Amino acid sequence: MEEVQGFIMRNIVYIETYGCQMNLADTEILSRILLNSGYEFTDKPMSANVILINTCSVRQHAEQRVFGRLNEFQTLRKENPSLVIGILGCMAERLRDKLIELMETVDLVVGPDEYRALPSYIDSARKGEKVVATRLSREETYDDVKPLRCGKLSAWIPVMRGCNNFCSYCVVPYTRGRERSRPLLSILKEVEELSDCGYKEINLLGQNVNSYKDGKLDFADLLERVADVDSRMRIRFITSHPQDIFDKLIYTIASKKNICKHFHLPVQSGSDRILKLMNRNYTSSYYKSLVRKIRDIIPGVSLTTDIIAGFPTETEDDHRATIDLIEEIRFDSAFTFLYSPRENTKASSMDDDVLRSTKVRRLNEIIEVQRRISLELNKELIGRSVEVLVEGPSKKSNSNSCGRTETNKMVVFQKNGEAVGDYVNILIKQANAATLIGERVT
Ligand code: 5AD
Ligand code: SF4
Repeated sequence: MEEVQGFIMRNIVYIETYGCQMNLADTEILSRILLNSGYEFTDKPMSANVILINTCSVRQHAEQRVFGRLNEFQTLRKENPSLVIGILGCMAERLRDKLIELMETVDLVVGPDEYRALPSYIDSARKGEKVVATRLSREETYDDVKPLRCGKLSAWIPVMRGCNNFCSYCVVPYTRGRERSRPLLSILKEVEELSDCGYKEINLLGQNVNSYKDGKLDFADLLERVADVDSRMRIRFITSHPQDIFDKLIYTIASKKNICKHFHLPVQSGSDRILKLMNRNYTSSYYKSLVRKIRDIIPGVSLTTDIIAGFPTETEDDHRATIDLIEEIRFDSAFTFLYSPRENTKASSMDDDVLRSTKVRRLNEIIEVQRRISLELNKELIGRSVEVLVEGPSKKSNSNSCGRTETNKMVVFQKNGEAVGDYVNILIKQANAATLIGERVT
């Protein structure tokens, strides 16, 4: 709380979060920092005297949405001139003082490694200063900050931050800085606390989670020890770079029942020429052999990916190579994106020469092939029984519950007394490309 001309002012903050799970996890961290400084939270922007937007820069579209929101908040500022509006996260890092120049609405621009000082930055903004705090750190992991979690079932734990890979299209190494990992023992302590509090799922997060390191200990060691904390707790991890998947990691996943048999393994393209231009450090045949190995060692593993359509110079042959790779690998599902040039990245110096209409057509072709494969793979599960961790009522009908398999597939079934966090067995009766529908058998 802050004293303003003799009376105490309550600090009420509204936070909106965009982008990846890392951003959602960061919001939980900075919320704790604000709570410790006496902040209260609201889910209504008009009730707040501080509005913070935790932003994503990975594609132009994500940034446009934030600019749209800032325009809407301008109206609130007219009604409440003392309202403080701040931009946090990747856009803060990418645009820095340009944001303040561009947008009259913005008082505060704070990058992802500067959240510890957020309360004092807000105080300065309130005194009329325009604050730009975008220093990137080589050490900051917020290891000692206990996230203020919103969920009770599933917890995100950032285990490393930053990325050293410099894929040529990607802004993340510029907005989140160099890789650094949290100490293993403190991650274990956090997992033990979450187990004591009844959490059932742990998601270990990192932009490039497989390059986790603590002295001689690597990501496989971390995963193994986290899995040993509580065998009823599911362990997930994202995101993996194909170049960092070693045999030790695959065997560790195979050996622990509660490590979910699911890899999110972004391939980005099926063309070796494009992969080289993307600076991905592998070929499509390496990727395919890696997938064969993973499937040999972990039977039943599910595999999801990210794919970019329309990278500069991408030809029909390159696009066809991506479609062929999708057909050959048969991913369970894929996140697909139109290439979006990002300032300062290596690819942004290349001509963005694939017509938008061509990009969109290729993207749609990729989506269509993948949807067919997802449907075929889901249909193979009809007649099988799967273990589901119950998440709550289904979005579409209150008489149904929903939850996920360990392979991360959504399952919907008729409610039958189960509670959030229960494990139930479901016999799959129907399937579409995104959801399995079944009946409880236990
Ligand atoms: N354009 C399109 N997609 C991108 N991604 C990252 N940068 C870009 C970009 N400039 C996608 C990649 C990555 C996912 C998180 O976002 O597929 O794996
Ligand atoms: Fe971006 Fe590549 Fe790092 Fe992923 S691995 S965050 S795509 S630079």
